[in-house]
Amino acid sequence: MNDPTRASDPTAFLATVPLFHGAPARALEVAASVVRSRRFEPDTVLFREGDTGDALYLLAEGLVKLSKVDLGGHEKTLALLQPPEFFGEMALLGHATRSATAVALSHVSTFLLYRDDFQRLLTAYPTVSLNLTTTLANRLRGMDDEAQVLSYKDAPGRVAYVLLRLYRSGVVELDAGGALVRLTHQDLANLAGTSRETVTRALKALEAEGVIVTRPKEVTIVDAEGLEEVLHGVR
Ligand code: CMP
Repeated sequence: MNDPTRASDPTAFLATVPLFHGAPARALEVAASVVRSRRFEPDTVLFREGDTGDALYLLAEGLVKLSKVDLGGHEKTLALLQPPEFFGEMALLGHATRSATAVALSHVSTFLLYRDDFQRLLTAYPTVSLNLTTTLANRLRGMDDEAQVLSYKDAPGRVAYVLLRLYRSGVVELDAGGALVRLTHQDLANLAGTSRETVTRALKALEAEGVIVTRPKEVTIVDAEGLEEVLHGVR
């Protein structure tokens, strides 16, 4: 979703970012005066897991993938982010290194908020601190849910969970036929923490249930409720 005002009017854009929801106008003005605009081409690495981090990223346009390499050397996709989300705050909290790699999956436009400015905003504006804590709590809740699904569900359940997460977070294109997910089987495997072959078999099973339709490099969710039923084992 590209909105030209996002890149050209930082204050209006910042007001939409969850970090600044309900924050006083002064907090937005201060943030807008210190952020730096940065654009990235598709497939560019914004930063890598293990790098030292000096800035938080506010995503104004495009799609960003956050991923880690697991102990077996496989990529695990943690999240696909779109505007107006933010990321890259963890390395600024307690001088840790980047916990994941961030890659631009399309043309990406961001605003960078550097460590000292971020910390000054957190200290001066409790709303901003509370919003940060809320985001971290939501992320932890999401990871707890995912850990349950990935440990206890069979392959169709895991893939159903991943598709529903993409559906709910809006990383889909809606049309009359359903919600289109433009990802390869390998992309879905990286999200589900499983192999490409397992995803291919699981997608066939979900298609036979009539809840999705598959085509090369895309999956259309035609029955989100049915997908939910597969996830909860009632179908
Ligand atoms: P940081 O560690 O600075 O760089 C990687 C970023 O990825 C991290 O900050 C968070 O903003 C983000 N991140 C890490 N883990 C997750 C997760 N499980 N879900 C969503 N975002 C994450």
